[in-house]
Amino acid sequence: MSERDRGDWTPQELVSGGQALLRRLAEHFGSLDAQAVRPSDVDVDRISEPFLGALPERGLAFEELLTRTWEHVVPGLTQWNHPRHHAYFSNSSSAPAMLAELFTAAFNVNVMVWESAPSAAAVERQTLAWLAELCGLDWPEGDAVLVDGASLATFYALCAARERAGQHAWREHGASGGPRARIYCSDQTHSSIGKAAIALGVGLDNVVQIPAPEGVLPPTELREAIRRDRDRGLFPLAVVANLGTTNVAAIDPVEQIAEVCRAEAVWLHVDAAFGGFWRIVPELDEVLPAINGADSVVANPHKVLYCPMEVSALFSRHPRGLMDTFSLVPEYLRTPTEDDRLDHMNYSLQLGRQFRALKVWWVLQSFGRRGLRQRLDHTVSLAGQLVANIERSEHWRLAHRSPLPLVVITYHDPSRTPEQCDRIAEAVHRHVNDTGACAISHTRYQGRYALRMSIGNIHTDSRHIAALWDAVVRAEELVVEGVGHGARDTVAHSG
Ligand SMILES: Cc1ncc(COP(=O)(O)O)c(C=O)c1O
Repeated sequence: MSERDRGDWTPQELVSGGQALLRRLAEHFGSLDAQAVRPSDVDVDRISEPFLGALPERGLAFEELLTRTWEHVVPGLTQWNHPRHHAYFSNSSSAPAMLAELFTAAFNVNVMVWESAPSAAAVERQTLAWLAELCGLDWPEGDAVLVDGASLATFYALCAARERAGQHAWREHGASGGPRARIYCSDQTHSSIGKAAIALGVGLDNVVQIPAPEGVLPPTELREAIRRDRDRGLFPLAVVANLGTTNVAAIDPVEQIAEVCRAEAVWLHVDAAFGGFWRIVPELDEVLPAINGADSVVANPHKVLYCPMEVSALFSRHPRGLMDTFSLVPEYLRTPTEDDRLDHMNYSLQLGRQFRALKVWWVLQSFGRRGLRQRLDHTVSLAGQLVANIERSEHWRLAHRSPLPLVVITYHDPSRTPEQCDRIAEAVHRHVNDTGACAISHTRYQGRYALRMSIGNIHTDSRHIAALWDAVVRAEELVVEGVGHGARDTVAHSG
């Protein structure tokens, strides 16, 4: 066996492989405008076929791997980091964050205890302090941690809520024998709250979804629901409020909800996964409610702050709120570091943790506060451009008016029933995505089929928004013309 067969690539090979990859990525970003956002055909067999071969016995040259990847993987991707990707929540992986991922993988440190990665832990603490500031949180003594996503962050927050309520020794005795806990939220709240209830042993039946006819959680109904439950001997565990719902980016009246929670002694978790960082834009700072009155908050740099997945920031107002919930230190993890707050393993279920703070730290410093503000401000103005088009249109209406750059529309035509209009909207959705020119997604809001167009990719500019609206209008013409020419059944049965 030669030395080559035993070890890693040489540093020179790393450089030439890295340069080859960077060259390809430079070409990729240079030609994004001409590329489709979605594969033209997502048939499972067709997409999977190139990957079905046996594991090669001998290693491939990296150039060959790159060629295969660009031949078979890239065309089968829905390109999230594309200026015309508007589905779900549009996000971005910016250049500094991409390079940070390379650094992170290269050093591969494990940020579990201070001693295992001292400066990485220091970077994480500072990054979290900056992120808290951007969200308008003033919790210098609280706990904070970076996790992989908002879903897990919310789960951890609700675990901390349960621990702090002190109604039962949950850590020691588990859920069995404890009181029946209840979690309150609006019926617009993300499915991650239900998933957290499943994992906590609270159960979906105990997620009290309060109707939100205008998209937002009504504080009075919330207070009544909590009091009713308490009178029945149930245990009101937590309220989850939204700063930007997934459906329409609706914003709950968080300050009033915080008052209810304070008066009723119930933990308030704010899901600011999407909405948390937009207050950097002065115009939005004026209209977004303060979230400082919450007990915990989650906000996602991987949605808004130009960082690739996965990175989500969880904050708890309470010193040791997360630590008292999750810290469990066996002998093999003990270190001489006296301050256990420096050991990030104590804040969540995760032990081995990647250095995910670096990409956020690089982005925050590369763009600076001003650069972030300018970029987010630009995005808000692009949403305004799209809204202006909608307001001039004959049949499309905004389903909800949010200050955040998620534009959600429904189709209205007085000569058709709402069901027929919904089928038209659904067919338009399919047509737009089938062209590959843009990617949009959908939801049901107030009973209607709604098209969701999220704006937030770092490459998106005014011409992409014009192309998006053009794609919607052209699809509408095609669908409506099809209906007029006897293709009504196609549309009528598309749902
Ligand atoms: C409001 C809201 N909360 C939570 C989540 C879950 O986030 P993650 O994918 O980071 O778990 C999402 C995802 O889109 C969301 O929109």
